[in-house]
Amino acid sequence: MIRMVSFHPCTWAAVCASTVLVAWCLFVAPCVRAADAPAGAAIASAHPLATEAGYAILRNGGNAFDAAVAVAAALAVVEPYSSGLGGGGLWLLHDIRGNRQVMLDARETAPSKATLSQYIAADGKPIAGATLRGGTAAGIPGMPAGLALLAGKYGRLPLAQSLAPAIALARDGFKVDGRFAAVAMLRERFLADGVNTARIFFMDNHAPAEGQVLRQPELALTLEAISAYGRDGFYLGRIAGALVAAANASGGAWTTADLENYQVKEREPVRFTYRGATITSAALPSAGGITLAQVFNILDKFQLKDARSPEQAHLVIEALRRGFQDRALYLGDSDFVEVPVARLTDAKYASSRASGIDPTHATMSSTLPAPQAVKDESGNTTHYSIIDSAGNRVGATLSINTLFGSGIIAGDTGVLLNNEMDDFSLLPEIPNAYRLRGGSANGIAPNKRPLSSMTPTFVEDDKGVLVIGAPGGSRIISMVLLGILDYMNQSEVNLRNIVAAPRYHHQYWPDRVEIEPDGFSNEWRKVLESKGHTVQIGNRRWGNMQTVFKSRRGGELQAASDPRGLGIAGY
Ligand code: DON
Repeated sequence: MIRMVSFHPCTWAAVCASTVLVAWCLFVAPCVRAADAPAGAAIASAHPLATEAGYAILRNGGNAFDAAVAVAAALAVVEPYSSGLGGGGLWLLHDIRGNRQVMLDARETAPSKATLSQYIAADGKPIAGATLRGGTAAGIPGMPAGLALLAGKYGRLPLAQSLAPAIALARDGFKVDGRFAAVAMLRERFLADGVNTARIFFMDNHAPAEGQVLRQPELALTLEAISAYGRDGFYLGRIAGALVAAANASGGAWTTADLENYQVKEREPVRFTYRGATITSAALPSAGGITLAQVFNILDKFQLKDARSPEQAHLVIEALRRGFQDRALYLGDSDFVEVPVARLTDAKYASSRASGIDPTHATMSSTLPAPQAVKDESGNTTHYSIIDSAGNRVGATLSINTLFGSGIIAGDTGVLLNNEMDDFSLLPEIPNAYRLRGGSANGIAPNKRPLSSMTPTFVEDDKGVLVIGAPGGSRIISMVLLGILDYMNQSEVNLRNIVAAPRYHHQYWPDRVEIEPDGFSNEWRKVLESKGHTVQIGNRRWGNMQTVFKSRRGGELQAASDPRGLGIAGY
């Protein structure tokens, strides 16, 4: 039997700023039915066709990892502005063989010839757009290697079988949905100026309209090459050559060896406990797990009950402020820099950070001293969640960074290259697209991975198992944090409420609390302002959270897609 939860296929909510329109999206838009979910399994993804691809693979004998390949590949086709073969991602896996949890790190790497001078001019000023568009913006993609490893080591089916639904979607086409149409319209100029982007995505010289059929035969052929030859189909030979040529023709400095040498890393996730729950989350090169652990450890020093009350939101914001300060100071690719992970996530360190929090007043970020405890030690994205009937789990956050990445589709490969180089910190005073600042730990170096905020997370407690994650740049961490706090505050788990709840965010710098429009009352804001916070109302809602849950007693399933997107979740 299929039971449906929480899919408001609002095609506009993620991009529209209008209150009325958002309200319409949330409460009036018709629901879409999920594909038939096999018994005992649940998938929540950002697109109905990707969720269907995952279910098809489960029905044909695949496990959660095969389904994860199918969902990721389908998203690359139907949501090309968010993730794809030219990007990367993090897959958090729970493999019931041996109850093992691992993070597959398929994050992009800086090219071996990357230097700061490609991004900072001789006068010390950033070169406009260098990290955001064109060949200098793109890191070496990790996604195809991630898919091949996921299928080969963890899946039950051949890679070709799990890629088949995506190949069909690329070759035969699919109807452009309202979200795609809105995002493409928003970026119409960028696509018009890009390399091959107008040729592939435009119809009648314009961004495609909702309902038009988009075919990507070149991308289908690239997926077929990966089907036939595994990772070599992408990282060696003709396709690799086309990728290098395209990146370098628009300013990049890639070599074929950069592609040939690309390696997925299998990393031990970050694990910590909060009020009896075991929380497992992303390791470096994502800040997600460490920052989450720090914030939860700080909150553990307070009697936090409801992160939604303004009094307690103040504590959450102060904990976020401190967690993000450490993100900026200490975090970077641990293959390149010493990161004091154990000390940052230690309960004693959290006590010292918590003791600086005044329950009645905001700490100005500019006055928050660099923490002593660790001072001397130095050195547009998508998420989906899957549980299968055997108990395997996947939380995956995949990205090409900002909408439509670097704006380069490489030659005739159909592959849209990412702009993840923007996630490096060029210089401490230069913020990136998410206004994040950072230090040398996240400086550019050849073959290094840029620091991410992607936070695929498992929560295991008496109630059951939750898989949660979202896109949204730096706000991913606060979204996942609030989602978990709401989950822990519910006596009866209701994922739909969790994904729909309004969001607030703080990231140390800029020193302000950002809130979603229409989510918080004037009284709520006044309480925070009276404590000295600057509260800024965002001009649109953010995130596209995808969650699944399996209860400990009875094994009931829930799945929920964020009403801000058009995802579909079923179980
Ligand atoms: O890895 C990161 O943190 C970013 N590249 C993620 C970008 C993102 O979530 C964009 N989504 N709206």
